[in-house]
Amino acid sequence: MFAISLGDGAELRPLEPWQAEEFLAHMDRGRTFIGRHIGLPDAVTDLDSARRWLQSYADKAAADAGRLHGIWLDGLLVGGVLFRLFDAETGNCEAGCWLEPDAAGRGLVTRATRLIIDWAIRERGMHRVEWLVSSENTPSIDVARRLGMRRDGVLRANHPYRGVRQDTEVWSVLAPEWRSA
Ligand SMILES: CC(C)(COP(=O)(O)OP(=O)(O)OC[C@H]1O[C@@H](n2cnc3c(N)ncnc32)[C@H](O)[C@@H]1OP(=O)(O)O)[C@@H](O)C(=O)NCCC(=O)NCCS
Repeated sequence: MFAISLGDGAELRPLEPWQAEEFLAHMDRGRTFIGRHIGLPDAVTDLDSARRWLQSYADKAAADAGRLHGIWLDGLLVGGVLFRLFDAETGNCEAGCWLEPDAAGRGLVTRATRLIIDWAIRERGMHRVEWLVSSENTPSIDVARRLGMRRDGVLRANHPYRGVRQDTEVWSVLAPEWRSA
């Protein structure tokens, strides 16, 4: 299986439906931490839903409408980075990420996201990469900053999550900014 080294024993690899069991075990380890701001753990609760979620990204990849990669640390699946949206025609895409708590604080997501943004801009000619994040989610906002993104603005109270309406910040980087950084 192909893998890209992220250094320090970490690798970026495709994450596919046949890995549903491994993915569910990872989600169970990180459920509380990951679910503070994003609904991924609520969508992945058992083997069927894990397989369905991975299949939805396999379908997006086949349609060139999204991508999903897992992050493995010393052989253990600990997180992922993705393009939730990918529109080659308009040159716009939206990246996202998550980690289980033991893998946080090592720069893994920053390094992995840098690789997929580089691929999107340099190989696929994308023009704009977005990062949508709850305004409460400081670690994710820090990732956007480390990637050299700028804050476009705030969608006020646009996202009802677990009974509370959240503000969503929109961050982005454009191809010329990425190339010159
Ligand atoms: C968002 C999330 C992935 C950020 O995780 P993270 O570990 O802070 O991000 P990174 O993997 O890029 O690591 C950065 C941290 O490692 C440190 N670090 C160590 N080595 C590093 C390196 N080589 N490069 C960059 N950072 C490094 C940084 O200083 C930073 O730590 P700090 O915040 O204490 O300063 C994590 O909080 C998470 O999974 N949250 C739940 C899911 C979620 O909210 N996803 C985002 C949706 S928008």
